[in-house]
Amino acid sequence: MAARAFTYASAITALVAGFVDGAAVSKRQSITTLSTDEIGAFKPFTFFASTAYCNPSETLTWSCGMNCDANPGFQPVASGGDGGSVQFWFVGFAPAQNTIIVSHQGTDPHNIMSLLTDGDLTRRSLDPTLFPGVSSSVEVHNGFAGSQASTAAAVLAAVKQAMSAHDTNTVTVVGHSLGAALALLDSVFLSLNLPSGTTVNTIGYGMPRVGNQEFVDYIDAHQNVTHVNNQKDPIPTVPGLFLGYHHSSGEVHIQASNAWDACPGQDSDSKSCIVGDVPNIFESTESNHIGPYDSVTMGC
Ligand SMILES: *[C@@H]1O[C@H](CO)[C@@H](O)[C@H](O)[C@H]1NC(C)=O
Repeated sequence: MAARAFTYASAITALVAGFVDGAAVSKRQSITTLSTDEIGAFKPFTFFASTAYCNPSETLTWSCGMNCDANPGFQPVASGGDGGSVQFWFVGFAPAQNTIIVSHQGTDPHNIMSLLTDGDLTRRSLDPTLFPGVSSSVEVHNGFAGSQASTAAAVLAAVKQAMSAHDTNTVTVVGHSLGAALALLDSVFLSLNLPSGTTVNTIGYGMPRVGNQEFVDYIDAHQNVTHVNNQKDPIPTVPGLFLGYHHSSGEVHIQASNAWDACPGQDSDSKSCIVGDVPNIFESTESNHIGPYDSVTMGC
């Protein structure tokens, strides 16, 4: 009898464990609110994204004022761009995070908004010279692809130089706005062109949609991307889903309360995530694009 009771008890225990497991699975797919420490861990990277708005002559000497001072000890390796036809960028080593940083400048909210609503939204396959082995069904915004290509060789050379000088195999690519779109493309490009064993992480702020469903599925399968968006910023909602543009997973949405919520999957339509919070651009606030992202406002 005792043995049988034990068996029943075990069966019930197993059943309960099963329910708990099931609950854990559905919990992973729901919205989770970041802790203060988790939010704080973004801050150095938020400043690195903002710093790309500074002139290359200042990022190369790490003398750009508040943005540079927020990450003391950073060791720049290369900077470039003209802030006009080519966005500013810089590459260097962040000892505190033990990672190479690649950061691209964004553009002002009004420019990118009109580019992605009235501009040419044609997509193209990734250039096989820069992105060897990626299926031609993977398509990205034509203009973003052209901008990424214009700095690709210089960025890759700088990253290789920084990795050998500082003996690290972790690269973190960051950017805000257009810079976030360039960061996402650079993360794929760098992963394909750096030695295997290199870890490439991406953190984008106010990132617009960059490519089609095949592109974001590729990102989810191969890259580690977090894209943070702020309140009712319209730019992460363009180009529209109805135009065949999508976001990869990894959305973090900042609420008006300043809570940071991690959203599950691609383009979650929950009210706590940007697709649900900004159902159309008439219910958006363009000034939310520049921040604040945990008190950091983008710009130099
Ligand atoms: C993904 O990127 C984040 C942000 O850089 C990093 O903290 C995390 O460790 C990365 N995850 C993996 C599995 O590399």
